[in-house]
Formats: sequence, C-alpha cells, structure tokens
Amino acid sequence: MSLNLSLLRALPSDIDTDALIVAVFEDQGLSPAARQLDEASAGRISALLKSGDISGKAGRSTLLLAVEGIRAPRIVLLGMGEAAKVDSGKYLKAAAESLRSLRGGPVARVHSTLPQIEVIGRDDAWKLRQAALAAFHVSYTYTATKKSARISSLTTLSLDGDAAHADQLRLATGIAEGVTLARELGNLPPNICNPAYLAETAQKIAAANDSVSLEVLETEQMRELGMGSLLAVGQGSANPPRLIVLRYNGAGEGVKPQVLVGKGITFDTGGISIKPGPGMDEMKFDMCGAASVLGTFLSAVRLGLKINLVTIAAAVENMPDGASYRPGDVLTSMSGKTIEVLNTDAEGRLILCDALTYAQRFEPDTLIDVATLTGACVIALGKHAHGLMSRDDALAAELLAAGEASHDRAWRMPVWDDYQPMLDSSAADMANIGGKSAGAVTAACFLARFTEDTQRWAHLDIAGTAWDEGRKGMATGRPVGLLVEWLMGRQQSSAA
Ligand code: BES
Ligand code: MN
Ligand code: ZN
Repeated sequence: MSLNLSLLRALPSDIDTDALIVAVFEDQGLSPAARQLDEASAGRISALLKSGDISGKAGRSTLLLAVEGIRAPRIVLLGMGEAAKVDSGKYLKAAAESLRSLRGGPVARVHSTLPQIEVIGRDDAWKLRQAALAAFHVSYTYTATKKSARISSLTTLSLDGDAAHADQLRLATGIAEGVTLARELGNLPPNICNPAYLAETAQKIAAANDSVSLEVLETEQMRELGMGSLLAVGQGSANPPRLIVLRYNGAGEGVKPQVLVGKGITFDTGGISIKPGPGMDEMKFDMCGAASVLGTFLSAVRLGLKINLVTIAAAVENMPDGASYRPGDVLTSMSGKTIEVLNTDAEGRLILCDALTYAQRFEPDTLIDVATLTGACVIALGKHAHGLMSRDDALAAELLAAGEASHDRAWRMPVWDDYQPMLDSSAADMANIGGKSAGAVTAACFLARFTEDTQRWAHLDIAGTAWDEGRKGMATGRPVGLLVEWLMGRQQSSAA
C-alpha cells in the first residue's frame, strides 16, 4: 500500500486529477468548493440540486461524469447533512466513504476539498491529518492469503490545505504505518500468525531501525524467570510461546520509558474450557493487543518520537491437548503469587500478569496493557469505545483525551478494590475468574494485583474494538491511533 499525499490549494475546476470530492449540505446547499465548480460549469450543480438529483442529506453521494467547464472527469458530491452539525464522526465517515466509492474503479488520483468544511471543535490540522489517515485506511487491502482481493486503485491524494500543514501528512503517514501493521497481523490466519511469526515481525522492525533493540524470550528463559502462569497457558500448544521485548531510545539516557504490554493469544480455543464452535475462528484476533502495541511501536520509531519506549508482546496459543493446563490447576506466577485456574478460557490475564511483572524491570514512567480481554467488555461498550481501567486519574484523563483527539475513543470503568473479593480462592492467592457480573472490571482487578509497583498503570480492553465482527470482519488497527496520540503528548512532558 503506497499512497502519495500532498496539499494543494487551487481552484477545483482547474485541478488535474481523476476525481474531485466536494461537499453539499442539506441546509446551505453548495460548499465553497461546490459553488466554484457550479460557476465554472454554468450552474450545472445547482441545477441538479434544485431538481433533486443530488442531495445534501448526510450519507448521500452522487458521481457526476464529464461536467463541461471542469477539468477533472469525475466529481463526487458528498451529502454532509446540516453544515453546522458536522461533527468528527460524520467527517471521518465521509472522508472514508467518499474514497471507498472510488477505490474499485479506474480512479488513481483524487483531490478532496473535504478538509475545507467546518467540523465542530476541530482545526485544519486535525481535518487534514484525519483525512489522510482515512485515505490510508481505505487503501489497505488484505491480500496475504486472498490473492483474488481487489486492491485499491488509489495512488495519489491531494487534500485542500495550506502548505504550512505539511507536517500533518508526515504524522498521518507514520501513524498509518503502525495501524496497517496492526491490521495486517490481526487479519493473518492463526496457522501463519503464531508466536514465532510475531517474533519474526519484531525482528524485522529491529533489523530496519538502528535505534531499536529486540530480545525474544523462549520457554526456557521464561521458566528460569518463573513465568509459571504464562507458560501454563501455552503448554497445550505445538507452537511454543514467545515474550517479545522491543526497545526504542528516542529520549536521553535516564529518561524513564513508556512501557506497552500486549495480549498476543494467536489463537484462543478456550483450552480445556473450550469455546463453542460458532464464531471460534474470530479468536485469531485474540492477538490484536500485541499487534496494536507492535504497530504503535513502529509508528513511534518512524515518527522519531522523543520518548523511550519498551513494547512487550506476550505471544501464546491457547489449545486443548493432553499437555494442557486444566481447571483446578494452581499456577505460580513470576510475582510469586499463586493463581487457581477456574476457567482455562480466562487465559489473557494469565499471560499478561507475568508480562506485567516482567515489565517492572524497566521502571516504567507509565505502564499500559492492551488486550482483547473479555466478552463482558463487548457487552458493556460494544464496538465503539475501548474499556479503560486505571486507578490513576491523571493517566486516565490523558488516555481519554488522546482517544478524543484521535477519535479512537475509550470509556472509563472502575478498578475499585470493592470488586477484589470476587477473585478470592480457597486454593490459591486468587482465582482467575470473578464470577458472572462485572467481567471486564474483575479482569482488570486481576491485572491490578500485578502492577502495584507502578503508579501510572492503565489497562485497555479492546475486545469490542479490535475487529469488526462477522464473516467479513477485519482488524481495525485500534487503538494505535489513541496510543500514538498519547505518546506524542508524552514527548513534551518527559522532555521538560
Ligand atoms: N479472548 C477472550 C475474550 C473475547 C471474547 C474477546 C469475545 C472478544 C470477543 C478471552 O480470552 C475470554 O475468553 N474471556 C472469557 C473470560 C471468562 C471465562 C471469565 C470471556 O470473556 O468469556
Ligand atoms: Mn479466552
Ligand atoms: Zn482470549
């Protein structure tokens, strides 16, 4: 996927491109760009609006071909609803849909005037960066194992914008690289994207960047460290686990790192507590936490962020087998705390607890884990918001704000100690499940027991947001947008 991006401010009617994208509104009619085209075409567009052939209703779009007086052979007229009511969501949807309608045809070069329109609470920089990100999103096609996939025809996109905002295109390109990596890893099937494959992916990132170092821990090293919980989850699989540790130094020595930990269950059958058959294939996405922290890492490196960053991907496959761990087993985690397994399908927390303990050695400024952790989070928040749990109000506020800024939003849920007794066990220091209610919260409470040494710890449950469900469901690349946005903000404060 390569997309040439540029900024171009010119009269729409004069632009040499394959297609122009312009907005029309429900109340005010033509946007300034549409008005200019209307004048250049002797009123063609206003006539069509009047006759009802085109509409400013939100979601309606019309393709005009070969309009006299206009150099571009195609015009996409995008209905945007009422001009004063265009919010971030509507804008992003329009930015993506307008390109999606063109990606399968003969159109290679597009000029979009969409960044001209007013969006509630957003400035030009935001509109340009997001329009570019939407273009990368639409241009991505999964082809690794689907050779018949129709790849996007789009090669070149110019956006109406001031040259002073060129940096937004650089930022979008860097963010999109990470998002695309996260999507691709998520979409790959579990017979390809296993723990070793994730480690190889990290190896490629390390090999291509001088500022990056990599360590991959295998079973023996994890045993020496006492990672009895993580290893138990992987012991039924023919694909042995890997703990992938990437480090990037973009700030000076002595600056505490940001540490990201990702759940990388490359396939979650549930283990002996096996999942029902229908939809089980979707559990190939159970490594999207790991994919998103690897993607975020790649973006941080490509953008040259002035931070120190450690990314840990816990890559494990959860399978039923004669060697599998079982309900009733008591595991000893790296922290020394013991865990009674009451359900082998609550495996994410069992690999994360050891990864979080391991993370302490980097003395994190902030520690964030990202995981497709609970079905309960999907029930609570659906596919729009990540679940955010943190005991640190300042950190929670930073992450919520980064989610708003990138429109990759999270919603906070509690990690109060009141819930902790739900994890009581008579056989061990804790059980790995908390009972029927508050499943997303008790999962976070479990993780909280392994992060007590880090004041600034947060957990993102991305079970509902990491992929679109259903037969044609694909990985979304979330929450790379949120995390990169947040990391960009950490540059100023840790440099200060
Ligand atoms: N990977 C799943 C969570 C999940 C389920 C993510 C559906 C996305 C969609 C996780 O490992 C799991 O199985 N969790 C169990 C926990 C339960 C046994 C306490 C769940 O949510 O059902
Ligand atoms: Mn599970
Ligand atoms: Zn899982």
